Amino acid sequence: MRTQVGIVGSGPSGLLLSQLLHLQGVETVILERRSRAYVEGRVRAGVLEQGTVDLLNEAAVGERMRREGLVHHGIHISLDGRLHRIDFQALVGSAVTVYGQTEVTKDLIEARLATGAEIVFEVDNVTVHGFDGARPKIRFGQDGRRRELACDFIAGCDGSHGVCRQSVPQAALTTHERVYPFAWLGMLVEAPPVADELIYAWHERGFALFSMRSPTRSRLYIQCTPDEHLDEWLDDRVFDELRLRLGGQTAERLQTGRCLEKGITPMRSFVAEPMRFGRLFLAGDAAHIVPPTGAKGLNLAVADVRVLARALAAFYTSGRSDLLDAYSATCLRRVWKAQRFSWWMTSLLHRFPGRNPYDDRVQRAEIEYVVGSRAAQQALAENYVGLPFEETG
Ligand code: FAD
Ligand code: DHB
Repeated sequence: MRTQVGIVGSGPSGLLLSQLLHLQGVETVILERRSRAYVEGRVRAGVLEQGTVDLLNEAAVGERMRREGLVHHGIHISLDGRLHRIDFQALVGSAVTVYGQTEVTKDLIEARLATGAEIVFEVDNVTVHGFDGARPKIRFGQDGRRRELACDFIAGCDGSHGVCRQSVPQAALTTHERVYPFAWLGMLVEAPPVADELIYAWHERGFALFSMRSPTRSRLYIQCTPDEHLDEWLDDRVFDELRLRLGGQTAERLQTGRCLEKGITPMRSFVAEPMRFGRLFLAGDAAHIVPPTGAKGLNLAVADVRVLARALAAFYTSGRSDLLDAYSATCLRRVWKAQRFSWWMTSLLHRFPGRNPYDDRVQRAEIEYVVGSRAAQQALAENYVGLPFEETG
């Protein structure tokens, strides 16, 4: 088997890269270890920056998103049961779109398969070779047979536990990590949203986030400890806890409903530098992880892919390799800004167990500052809706 760009992983990064390259006439094959149903059903992020929306439209996969996505012009911060609105439209003239990662993934898979693209699901034992030379190869197992994909470049879009980053010689990589002493319990429920915009809540029992997927589906998150088990969190307990943490009229309006999915996500900040080794390029979660509080993970993956697709297209259409050479540095400038913002939103809104009470008072002062200051709100809004893309080439 041979292709131009061999892509490991069919998450948002791998799928979008494949779609953008296809539109530029560049051939790809995607190798994915899970089944199509598993990949399409994985409930994760929900907030798209305007730049992400624009790129999905540019990639000709925006039709359903334009119809079903919910455009939000602000968010609420809840403190002591009172809501404080951050008005993105007034502060920075922009908005975000609430449209689930599951839906982005389904739209991309459908678009790729409609053009006859090759996505090989349920492969095992993927290994990457020769990326320090001119002829990289990806070996993998399929239906009990060992196969080989020869390519010009490998895109490591295989998420945080993938094989690509791990195949880079350790000495060539610098990693940065911060682990937080808490996790998020997330629940998708069949119940109408309690507000028309997202609510990020600080509470002494811990952080809570009220989000949504549609006018009939809500997505709830509450801070919990990383070692808790799902069976300790029956649905009613999650609703009770959320009610306590939202407080006020929001709590009174909260409707319960059937649970469609529930999971616990540990919280971590992580960056591996650089994001390129010879002919292997890392994109999305394969290179970096953010805690989800700023809704940046998926958007950052999309931003990497935008840079990579343009650089690969320039290589194939005009023989230029300067954009490929600049890939890692270009992406990392945005990555570190999103790292900072995600760390900041996380630090602002979560309870840190066992912390010096002084730090708790400073945290409270900072929230009060944010909800009372237009300058502080503008900084939050500018980052939340997405910093402008750096123009390349
Ligand atoms: P992924 O979506 O992880 O895709 C990687 C793909 O590679 C997967 O399909 C995987 O099966 C495949 N793969 C892995 N290893 C191999 C291998 N060896 N061979 C072949 N295929 C392989 N972000 C937010 O903004 N908000 C959230 O609420 C949020 N919640 C999250 C919850 C969880 C549990 C996780 C893990 C992430 C969450 N994120 C969230 C982050 C966001 O979902 C990711 O940033 C986004 O999925 C990144 O896309 P990606 O394509 O780079 O990686
Ligand atoms: C969602 C997830 C986030 O991490 C976030 O900050 C906002 C919304 C969501 O899944 O809807």
